Amino acid sequence: MAGPGSGHDVVIREREPADDEAIRRLNDLAFGSPFEGKLIEELREAFIDAVELVAVEDGAIVGHILFSALTTMVDDDAVPTLSLAPMCVHPDHQNAGIGSALVETGLDLARRREWQAVVVLGHPGFYPRFGFSAELASGLDAPFEGDSFMALELVPGALDGDDGLIVYPTAFGLVS
Ligand SMILES: CC(C)(COP(=O)(O)OP(=O)(O)OC[C@H]1O[C@@H](n2cnc3c(N)ncnc32)[C@H](O)[C@@H]1OP(=O)(O)O)[C@@H](O)C(=O)NCCC(=O)NCCS
Repeated sequence: MAGPGSGHDVVIREREPADDEAIRRLNDLAFGSPFEGKLIEELREAFIDAVELVAVEDGAIVGHILFSALTTMVDDDAVPTLSLAPMCVHPDHQNAGIGSALVETGLDLARRREWQAVVVLGHPGFYPRFGFSAELASGLDAPFEGDSFMALELVPGALDGDDGLIVYPTAFGLVS
């Protein structure tokens, strides 16, 4: 898969089980906490990891992104929806386009796998550039609200309706 423009070649590819230890260490480092590494393992164990990519530079994993399935109902119809969480880039490699390449490649793959929408709780200065919108998410009954909770339709109109409900998997430790 295509990588971002930088001095070194960055390859974005799907995660393989042999990557898992490096993915955990990268998340621990980037977030400064073991929470995200554990969340990733729980999402895999629940078999709801749907799109998981790594960014590899000079043989080292320098970025990671996971999209997992959650339950979304709009007017009593299930809408195949992913949660983008977590994602990170090694602190020494940030601001080089790697995070953007992970998001764009992940969204592309999600679209090809026929997912219809994606939600994210994240930096309001980062995700809107990919089309995520807090306004779109504000129409959904979810455990989050405000600028940091954003949604993106991979299929136009997928989240249209009067009543939208998002239920996060138990791995997130939330009650909706
Ligand atoms: C957020 C993160 C994944 C971005 O990865 P990246 O490879 O640096 O991203 P890119 O180089 O593609 O894009 C850089 C842009 O992200 C923005 N960005 C990075 N961290 C940000 C933050 N905390 N809040 C808002 N914007 C942020 C940069 O300002 C930059 O914006 P610009 O293009 O307008 O200058 C990376 O900074 C990271 O891993 N942070 C620590 C973990 C984290 O916060 N994960 C995301 C949880 S929502």
